[in-house]
Amino acid sequence: MAFINENYLKLRGSYLFPEISRRVREYQKNHPDAEIIRMGIGDVTQPLSPAVVKAFREGVEEMSRAETFRGYGPEQGYEFLREAIAEHDYRSRGTDINAGEIFISDGAKCDTGNILEIFGHNNVIAVQDPVYPVYVDSSVMGGRTGEYLDNGYFGGLVYMPCTAENNFIPEIPERKIDIVFLCYPNNPTGASAGRRELKKWVDFARNNKVIILFDSAYEAYITDPEIPHSIYEIEGAREVAIEFRSFSKTAGFTGTRCAYTVIPENLTAFTAAGEPKPLHPLWLRRQTTKFNGVSYPVQKAAAAIYSPEGKIQVRETINYYMENARVLREGLGRMGFRVYGGINAPYVWVNSGKGIGSWELFDKLLHEARVVCTPGSGFGPSGEGYIRFSAFAQRENVIRALERISSIYL
Ligand code: MLT
Repeated sequence: MAFINENYLKLRGSYLFPEISRRVREYQKNHPDAEIIRMGIGDVTQPLSPAVVKAFREGVEEMSRAETFRGYGPEQGYEFLREAIAEHDYRSRGTDINAGEIFISDGAKCDTGNILEIFGHNNVIAVQDPVYPVYVDSSVMGGRTGEYLDNGYFGGLVYMPCTAENNFIPEIPERKIDIVFLCYPNNPTGASAGRRELKKWVDFARNNKVIILFDSAYEAYITDPEIPHSIYEIEGAREVAIEFRSFSKTAGFTGTRCAYTVIPENLTAFTAAGEPKPLHPLWLRRQTTKFNGVSYPVQKAAAAIYSPEGKIQVRETINYYMENARVLREGLGRMGFRVYGGINAPYVWVNSGKGIGSWELFDKLLHEARVVCTPGSGFGPSGEGYIRFSAFAQRENVIRALERISSIYL
């Protein structure tokens, strides 16, 4: 007899985005002619930039000739890409990360879910509330939580409310924790964390032997020069933090798949006997066992974003999305919504200010305006009353969505 991993039975319904798709499909079935504007899932809409496509093609060409064909690549990623990342994303910003500390992967989603494998089951994990659901659901699947509770939390996890009152930056929990997931610029609230806030977390982690799992998948959307792009811009972070980044949102790779994770060589966690052990070899062992790397053409395409023309083209696309965010923020603000985020992140976090629940507002916008957003409560109880708009959209759709919403709200 084969037994299932019963931790999966603790999970709530389906993952958030399939549930949204289900409701949209249902609506579309009953209204086949309705033209729906989708601003729910944060999926990019603009094509890959020309420099990326050129490199991608060259990579495929190389694969088509025996002299330049490549089979398995290095599990940690090709040196040319890791070097480009170390130089352009870290050293050029004065941050001390070397290529050997970078692991190329096919997504920050996979890495933030899988990373827990190298940590013991006795760790107390803290998450922000609202939170990117992957951190919570992966903790549940791995048997690192208790049951789902009436208050919308899983037992065993420490939830840190992020509200308008604390600028969506959590307080350090009073309960002892061992691992904390932090995401800045934040998904879903669109909030960003300044140097002072991040330093508070790094100091806390150093003083309490806590590991920070820092998801900075949206760092390319930071517009304020004072906001750090990496946790490693904070002194001492190399001793306590793993950082996750992605080409998905930075360069339109959601369908192409490429990301990376940084594990500093001096970063340690402890055995039960209290002996410090470096985490880098554990993740290397995990990846070399379970992962065969990202395809060569994709890595070549990713490296092209660091070329002079690639940098300009990628920036143009980011600016396009951020202009969408501005249009959304201002338009929704004029309608009387309370609007947050959208300045250093491609997400706009919105509260009706009228006590309407998240799913209720989601359904109202779907049925009356034919606009899809993401209900904030799907990210955790502190998201109740909010909805999230993704700025990854065509400009004309953003404008039409606002017109439709204003016709039911003004
Ligand atoms: C989101 O909409 O929150 C993101 O698209 C999810 C993801 O990047 O996996």
